[in-house]
Amino acid sequence: MPSKTEKYGRICLQLEQLLVKSNDPLARMASINAILYHKMQNFFWVGFYLLNQDRLIVGPYQGPVACMELAKNKGVCWHSVNTQETVIVPNVNKFPGHIACDSRSKSEIAVPLFNAKGQIAGVMDIDSNKPDFFDRTDADFLEKIVKLIY
Ligand code: SME
Repeated sequence: MPSKTEKYGRICLQLEQLLVKSNDPLARMASINAILYHKMQNFFWVGFYLLNQDRLIVGPYQGPVACMELAKNKGVCWHSVNTQETVIVPNVNKFPGHIACDSRSKSEIAVPLFNAKGQIAGVMDIDSNKPDFFDRTDADFLEKIVKLIY
């Protein structure tokens, strides 16, 4: 069974080859979602919430249907946008203001997404059906992966 680092390593290689085929950020987000969702075990939902003025609106994703828009300054995704930091949530039920789009989600990671000018553009959000699923290894690789978008 390959380690998490080995799996991410292979995924990063695959993404580097795939994403050169289009420079369109939405096409890249969609492709990243498809690869992560289908290759990483226990990734229950993988997607993006994109900033539009002061709204955080769902973008491309894979997994069960999710909230289309997130109440301002509440929950994990807004926390990541506001702090511009990756947020690892071992237990979603213990995160103040967590927005539950699906009760099967148990842990979560949100990684800030920056556009080509370095401005915050939204977040990549991943939910797991297992508690305490994400760690610094996920954060490090996902932070590299979101840099491939713009
Ligand atoms: N839990 C997130 C909302 C998005 S869903 O998990 C897909 C939050 O608290 O911001």
